[in-house]
Amino acid sequence: MASAPTQTFIFLAFFALLTSSLCFASDPSPLQDFCVADAASNVFVNGFVCKNPAIVKANDFFLSGLNKPGDTSNPVGSNVTQANVAQIPGLNTLGVSLVRIDYAPGGLNPPHTHPRATEILVVLKGTLYVGFITSNPNNTLFSKILYEGDLFVFPQGLIHFQFNYEHSNAVAFAGLGSQNPGTITIANAVFGSKPPISDIVLAKAFQVSKEIIDKLQAQFWLEN
Ligand SMILES: *[C@@H]1O[C@H](CO)[C@@H](O)[C@H](O)[C@H]1NC(C)=O
Ligand SMILES: *[C@@H]1O[C@H](CO)[C@@H](O)[C@H](O)[C@H]1NC(C)=O
Repeated sequence: MASAPTQTFIFLAFFALLTSSLCFASDPSPLQDFCVADAASNVFVNGFVCKNPAIVKANDFFLSGLNKPGDTSNPVGSNVTQANVAQIPGLNTLGVSLVRIDYAPGGLNPPHTHPRATEILVVLKGTLYVGFITSNPNNTLFSKILYEGDLFVFPQGLIHFQFNYEHSNAVAFAGLGSQNPGTITIANAVFGSKPPISDIVLAKAFQVSKEIIDKLQAQFWLEN
């Protein structure tokens, strides 16, 4: 017969299993037509507080300027123009957003993840080498060369990148399955955290000397 602590453990494990079905793989479903984000509210909830529907305007669902390229004159040679709930308050609770990505010749959208969204990217101009890597233990790279009109999916949370290895500019648009997908740029998060992670930790993790880590940590990590 199982001892009392074992029984407690089994019960807790079972309870965790049952309640885990309450987790959502994407943004929760809205319970009304819309819930336009009220930027003036001091209340913190999961998402944003709704503005009074009586004062909601068409402009709450509107953004212009996505015809204009972002400035790619930066160290990585790419620029992501965001169209999420931060720019469009009407997207609050609706579980979808968009980006425009511009790439200079040789430009890279560096390895990053979106913790809350799957991404579906379409190339409007140019050629891109894109890929994502699966989680442990396989770490399999799924990669592809995309031409104009081609589309690729980056599954939620997985590390992915896009690289323009051509001599001309490239442009892509991508839809994301969250009003607020979030971005974790791997190099920036690991080597550019504030305060910095101990170089002992990173030297061990990356299997290199502390000097290499110090050099990486001293670098300027562009917010992109
Ligand atoms: C992206 O482009 C915009 C518009 O040109 C510019 O304001 C912004 O600083 C650029 N961002 C980066 C990371 O280069
Ligand atoms: C992932 O790796 C494990 C262990 O090496 C292997 O058994 C499994 O078949 C791999 N799965 C895929 C989808 O490649």
